[in-house]
Amino acid sequence: MSEKRLIIVTGVSKGIGKSTVTALLEAEYRVAGWGRNNPGISHPDFQFFKCDVSHDNQVISAMMQTRLKFGDAIYGLINNAGFGHFGKIEELPLEQWHAMFNTNVHGLMYCTRAVVPFMKTAQKGHIINISSIAGLDGVVQGSGYSATKYAVRGISHSLYKELREDGIKVSCVYPGSVETNFFDSVEAITTSKNMLQPEDVAALLVQLLGSSANFLTVDVEIRPLMPKGPKPKA
Ligand SMILES: NC(=O)c1ccc[n+]([C@@H]2O[C@H](COP(=O)([O-])OP(=O)(O)OC[C@H]3O[C@@H](n4cnc5c(N)ncnc54)[C@H](OP(=O)(O)O)[C@@H]3O)[C@@H](O)[C@H]2O)c1
Repeated sequence: MSEKRLIIVTGVSKGIGKSTVTALLEAEYRVAGWGRNNPGISHPDFQFFKCDVSHDNQVISAMMQTRLKFGDAIYGLINNAGFGHFGKIEELPLEQWHAMFNTNVHGLMYCTRAVVPFMKTAQKGHIINISSIAGLDGVVQGSGYSATKYAVRGISHSLYKELREDGIKVSCVYPGSVETNFFDSVEAITTSKNMLQPEDVAALLVQLLGSSANFLTVDVEIRPLMPKGPKPKA
């Protein structure tokens, strides 16, 4: 790569986001990490910008700081920041429902709006949105989370059609369970090594970003091959 491409990743303190920053740096990208908490990664091509993506003014500020540090040539945006609250529809606190939409849907839209004008000027770019298999099918006690991830799918499909003529790719990734802190507040689920690993999801994202100019991946559904572990020997 002659000039290292700049990628913005949201939600970088841990999990898929942090692994993605590491993988992108290894693949010789420059990375702006936007998030509420610093991942503590020290690298000349990485800069953390404090940003709660659910607040449009913080996104605008992170964008300004990113341009000051790295310039206007923003190649990629990985909309990763997100979380889930689970519970019965009549019991889930309204604040939790709204908080999920504010980050998973509205935050993704704020970040996307911020980068698109620069990608249009460059007539190239790649936006990757992290949905979930909960964005393809409903989940018991996950109506709110699933709704946000269906929304991510709708935004992604609309935008790939809207932005393709400007040379901007939009891809949507639908992971099954990944072993991260996502499940810390979910009593019913204990993480395990049989889940997808965040490093493997990160490797996929790097691969998507490296595709040739006229190659668009619209959707990628990924799942652990053996979520219950290898078959016991007979
Ligand atoms: N783990 C799974 O099984 C799974 C499956 C499918 C899809 N996903 C999706 O994958 C994405 C990453 O999740 P993960 O599994 O890596 O979970 P994680 O380990 O909990 O990481 C989530 C990241 O998002 C950040 N974040 C949350 N709200 C934010 C906000 N308003 N502004 C900025 N950053 C925010 C968190 O930062 P803080 O330090 O501030 O908390 C954290 O860095 C999410 O969109 C999630 O829905 C996960």
